[in-house]
Amino acid sequence: MDSQPDYSPGLEGIVAGESAISRIDLERNRLVIRGYDLVELTDQVSYEEVAYLLLYGDLPGRGDLDRFNDALRSERNLPDQILDLLRQAPASVHPMALLRTGVSALSFYDAEAQDNSREANVRKSIRLLAKIPLLITAGHHLASGREPVAPRPELSQAANLLYLLRGVAPADYEVEAMNASLILYAEHGYNASAFAGRVTASTQSDLHAAITGAIGTLAGSLHGGANEKAMEMLLEIGAPEKAEAWVLEGLRQKKKIMGFGHREYKRGDSRVPSMKKVARRIVTQSGESRWVEAAEIVEVTMDREKGIFPNVDFPCAYTYYMMQIPIPLYTPIFVSSRVAGWAAHILEQNENNRLIRPNHIYTGPEQLQVKPVGERGS
Ligand code: ACO
Repeated sequence: MDSQPDYSPGLEGIVAGESAISRIDLERNRLVIRGYDLVELTDQVSYEEVAYLLLYGDLPGRGDLDRFNDALRSERNLPDQILDLLRQAPASVHPMALLRTGVSALSFYDAEAQDNSREANVRKSIRLLAKIPLLITAGHHLASGREPVAPRPELSQAANLLYLLRGVAPADYEVEAMNASLILYAEHGYNASAFAGRVTASTQSDLHAAITGAIGTLAGSLHGGANEKAMEMLLEIGAPEKAEAWVLEGLRQKKKIMGFGHREYKRGDSRVPSMKKVARRIVTQSGESRWVEAAEIVEVTMDREKGIFPNVDFPCAYTYYMMQIPIPLYTPIFVSSRVAGWAAHILEQNENNRLIRPNHIYTGPEQLQVKPVGERGS
């Protein structure tokens, strides 16, 4: 038999490419996006500025930002055919499946769908940034027999998302919370969904196809889908005084505690402190501290028992819950942010492309004899 190449299950520790988009700085436990510290971005800028940073490589000046916001505003609409598609979907379909299909179907009505030039891909990315919140909220309303809410042109990405969901203007503190969560979710290196997007792009497939693949990859509960599962877990726990026993029993049964652990961070996710700060601000406004308290006990118990820390999905989950966002929309909201990071990865992949095609170790049989069909058993 040939000698076997090195193999790392789950590609752990494998360098699969180069990127100038972001870096997890494990020494200082921070995320750097195009040179900027994510915590500083979260505290100081709008999600739109981070999306611009990801697409164009640096933060926008006033004129650039105005033009970017105008472009987003002019793209906040959905073709009637897409609304019909959403209307026809069974109400039981998960919003992530609806979003995945909706994004794929948007390519039918995008005149530049097959144009893989950088300029067209930036324009398509802006369209998706503008349209994804509409897909999420229109799908949500139609599934409940209500008509979609029309966007308000003067509102930001974060404010519009909440407005489209509720039909009433959100409070400033809620917009700040949503803005922060969108920034914290926007980009995170060679994670599974960004990698899926890059693999698709590496075949010279189109941007909608690459983003559709990335959405499907994010949906799983080991990746972005964990924010929904984490909240379901907290609801199952029910109260802070039950949290420790619940976690101990879960670990005894060898369950994965959702919203905990990370392939890269072994001493805690650098995005968590910022998201917890947002959660505490929501508690100050709402006066309801039950979920933050329960979460704290889950965290302390996981640290003591396993030395495993929460990832950003954990504080995002209970923050969104306190903001009364329906749980099945948590991962779609993650998509509405991460699409900027994916787009940056796809643009970068296209700029210096080589087909991504790894090797594998064959573990099947060799030298079987082909028999006529009648001689192969039942
Ligand atoms: N709960 C309990 N044990 C855990 C957890 C967890 N959440 N995460 C890791 N472990 C344990 C594993 O059981 C394993 O223990 P073992 O060596 O005794 O078998 C060890 O830690 C290593 O875990 P792996 O799953 O092999 O680590 P990997 O790097 O492959 O996976 C992952 C990382 C998928 C994030 C994992 O920690 C996990 O499943 N977490 C829960 C799901 C989750 O929150 N995902 C969101 C990730 S962040 C994001 O996508 C935005």
